[in-house]
Parts: sequence; C-alpha cells; structure tokens
Amino acid sequence: MNTEKVETTEFECPICKSVAFDELSLRCLGCRSVERQRLLYLVITSRMKIDKGANILLIGKKEDIIEKAIRKNGCENLMVMDIDCSIKQIEDKYNTINDSLGKLEECSFDLIIHSHIIQKVAIDLNSFIKHSFRLLKPDGLHIFTAPAREMHAELEKSETINEDQCLKLFGHRDHVRIIGLNDMESKLKAQFNNKSCLIEPYHEIDREKLRLSGISNKTWFSGNGGRPKVFCAKKHNKLRKIYSTGSVNADKYTLKRINMNTYNYFGREIIQHMNALDKIKRDNPWPDISDVKQAPFVLALGLGQDAGRHLIINKIREADIKLMIEIGVFLGGSTIQWLESKNNLQVIGIDPWSDSWGGYIYNMIGCHNMSTHVNQFSIEELKSIVKSLDRHGNYKIALNNLLRYKERFIPIRQYSPRSLVYLKKHGIEPQLIYIDAFKRKIDLEVAYALFPNSVLCGDDWQWKDANGEFGMQKIVKVFASKYNFEIEAERQTWILHRR
Ligand SMILES: C[S@@+](CC[C@H](N)C(=O)[O-])C[C@H]1O[C@@H](n2cnc3c(N)ncnc32)[C@H](O)[C@@H]1O
Repeated sequence: MNTEKVETTEFECPICKSVAFDELSLRCLGCRSVERQRLLYLVITSRMKIDKGANILLIGKKEDIIEKAIRKNGCENLMVMDIDCSIKQIEDKYNTINDSLGKLEECSFDLIIHSHIIQKVAIDLNSFIKHSFRLLKPDGLHIFTAPAREMHAELEKSETINEDQCLKLFGHRDHVRIIGLNDMESKLKAQFNNKSCLIEPYHEIDREKLRLSGISNKTWFSGNGGRPKVFCAKKHNKLRKIYSTGSVNADKYTLKRINMNTYNYFGREIIQHMNALDKIKRDNPWPDISDVKQAPFVLALGLGQDAGRHLIINKIREADIKLMIEIGVFLGGSTIQWLESKNNLQVIGIDPWSDSWGGYIYNMIGCHNMSTHVNQFSIEELKSIVKSLDRHGNYKIALNNLLRYKERFIPIRQYSPRSLVYLKKHGIEPQLIYIDAFKRKIDLEVAYALFPNSVLCGDDWQWKDANGEFGMQKIVKVFASKYNFEIEAERQTWILHRR
C-alpha cells in the first residue's frame, strides 16, 4: 500500500514526542507506535505515576515500544517476560507463561502490563488472571489491551487445529481465541472484586489530548463500531474497598452528545483514517425507532417452506463470510437468517423501503400461494403488524425487526444498482451478494461488474413471470453461461460457483 509520511505540527506522540505520522495507519514514525500502544501508554500514565522505584512486569515481545517508553521514564525495576507469539512456539509451550508466573513471588509488582498478547497465547485465561492478582501488590494495577471483537466469545483454539483454521475461526493465523469484551471484564471483575475493569478512555483522558496524540475515535470510543479495548483491574488494599474506574456505560446523554459531535470534533485526518465500513455506517445511521411499539417479528418470504436457504447459510459459514450485501431486505426476515448463521457476519441491506406493505401483507391471508408466509401469525398479530406498517412505514418496521442485530446491520435506503455503485465508490468489498429484489438482470450484471470476487446468489429460482416462464432462472442461466459459472440451485435459492 502506498503510504505517505506526514509531518504534522498537530499530532504529537506521547511516547517519543515525534510529530511525524503515517497518514493511513497513524503509526508514529518516531517510535513506530500504533494507536493502541499510545492509548495504553496514556492510560497507564494517567492511572499511576511510573516512578523509578515502581516494580513493573511487562508481558510481551522483546524490544516492545511500551518497554522502551517505561525505561525512558527512568524506571529501573522492569521485568520483561518475553514471549514468542508464533503458533509453533505456542504448541510447544502451552501454558508456560502461567508456569513462569507461578514461580514469581506474590505481591511483587505495582503494575502488570501487556498489549495485544492474550489473543495469541494459548494460556488458560482464568489462571492467568489469578496469577496477576497474586503477583500484584495491594493497590497494584493490571492494565492491558486486547482486541475484543465480540461481547461474548467462548471460542478458543484446541491443540489440534492448524493456522488455516485459526485464520478462519479467529481472523488471524497467529490468533488462538476471540476475546469477548464482557467475558473478559467478568473474569477480571470476579478475581479483582472491581466494579468495572473496562476503560472508556475518554472518561479519564481529555478528548483533545487523545486526538492530539494521533489516536482516532475508533480506537477509544465504544460507539460507531469501535470498542474500548483497554482493561484495567486494581488489587484493592486489605479493606477491599470497591474501586471504580469510572462508569463503563456512559450515561445516555453523554453518548448521544458524542455521537452527534464526534466527526466534527475530531480532525479531518482522523476521519480519513476510519475504514470504509465505518464511513458507510456513519453516513447511513439507523433512524430513531423508539416510538415503534410493535414487537419484532420474522416474516420472510420463503420461511415456513423449504426455500433452499441452507445453500446460502452453508456458504456463509464455509467461506467465513464476514461482510455481505443483501439487495431487497423487505422486513428483514431473510436478513435475520444470515445474521443468525454466523455471529461475526455484518450485512449491508439495500432496499428503498418505500411506503407500507400493510395492505400487501393483509391480502396474503386469503391468497392460496402467499398464505404460507404469514400463517405463523394469529389474525390479531397480523392486524397489529399491518397497523404498525401503515403507521410507521416499512423502513422503521424492518429495522425494528432487526434491532437485536443493530451492531451488524447497515441499512442503505436506496435502489439497486445505484446503491452498488455508491458502495463500490466508498471502498466496500462484500464477500457475498444475495439478490432478492425485483428479478432484474441489471442487479446481477452490475454486482458482478463491480464486485467480481463476491459470491453471487439469490432468490426466485422457481418464480414464474406473467408468461408462466421461470424469469429469474432464465436471467441466471444466461449470465452463468456468459461468465462461465456453474449454478447450484435448490427450490427458490440459487448460487453461482466459479468453474
Ligand atoms: C421479495 S422482497 C425481499 C424479501 C426478503 N429478502 C425476505 O426474504 O424476507 C423484495 C424487496 O426488494 C425491494 N426492492 C425492489 N426493488 C429494489 C431495488 N431496485 N433495489 C433494492 N431493493 C429493491 C423491495 O422494496 C422489497 O422489499
């Protein structure tokens, strides 16, 4: 990637005081620190004065930036537990870190630190935390960063799986687990008896200071798809006084205010640093649906009959799809199936969601072909759905149905194929595109032209047009032969495989 060196008088690295940063990665060109390392450094220094006499245990790689930063502070009692994080080492040295920690004397350290280590080492996290508690002096701190990708995650590497499987399961060849944000916090809280062990950095460090340190809001702000990734547990003194690190859940007012102002407040460089999906999320925010009183419901065209959707679900899982586009979301019924099939999948849903489908749905009741879509509802439930659709419109009701998946569903209220061009222009690269709109050749052609590497699939394989012909089948067959794809189809579902 072509990266540019940027000399800026605006940002200053808190570790080495350099003002030169790489524009794209926001890496400091002085000490080579990345955002999370500078953030960790700021959190540590805001929490405690690292004086000469402090006893510090750093778990991490040799020559780590944090190590240098601490040494630069004049700290003399720094013990570095060097870890080679390559998978081969891990297999040989399963749990050696815990063994090494076990040999150290209790109540020895004022501070235990590590940065993005625990996702790479196959240690038992509970005993690791127990060791840290045992090793800390009263009032000592355990501060670390970890890439928390989920709220809850049970997934850990077993000894038999290889690097390719790690890539598929954890997103990196050298990762051995997914860290659950809440799970990690609970583990720490349980051992340390702390009220909160997750830090929202902007509660303790001035936002302007964060910005000027070249740390984008994505790294420190838990909204906007970013997550707080700094954990801090304090070992209380004998009185076991409850120590609060500040509320993790900022009150709603603060969050709202930050949501509105974040992008104006933080400089242009930082906005540029946001990734493509974050920008799409920012530009297509969810509407306020707090006035919708309708209970979420699942109404998928194709549900209640075997529509062959397992072809798509199997593909999502096998190919480890993390980002897909659905063209034609309707009331979110099919979208829910995709989102439930894999918990790290994000769906960009395209639909104009114009007007209300209330009448259309009500008419399904008496219709021979369509009643299967709604016969899971009582008449009362249907009346309530129809009333809500007429009152709030399709858009709000669709999103109300998808509320549980708010973090992973991005609504694009536009028509295809224009919306596909919009997404391409903004750098989105979906791994899969599911087409379920108005059975037109153009959606398929444009999807392929813009995203030639995406898996293409869709609905309506057995749909008959006004002439009694399989309209979508015809479109897909012509397309497949033109571009040399093999078609797999079952019931209403089709998927294309490259020959
Ligand atoms: C058959 S429904 C989709 C059903 C949905 N996938 C499900 O299984 O529950 C078709 C949807 O396509 C949407 N639609 C129609 N034309 C479109 C276009 N050009 N771009 C995006 N969506 C479109 C309609 O608004 C409608 O919601």
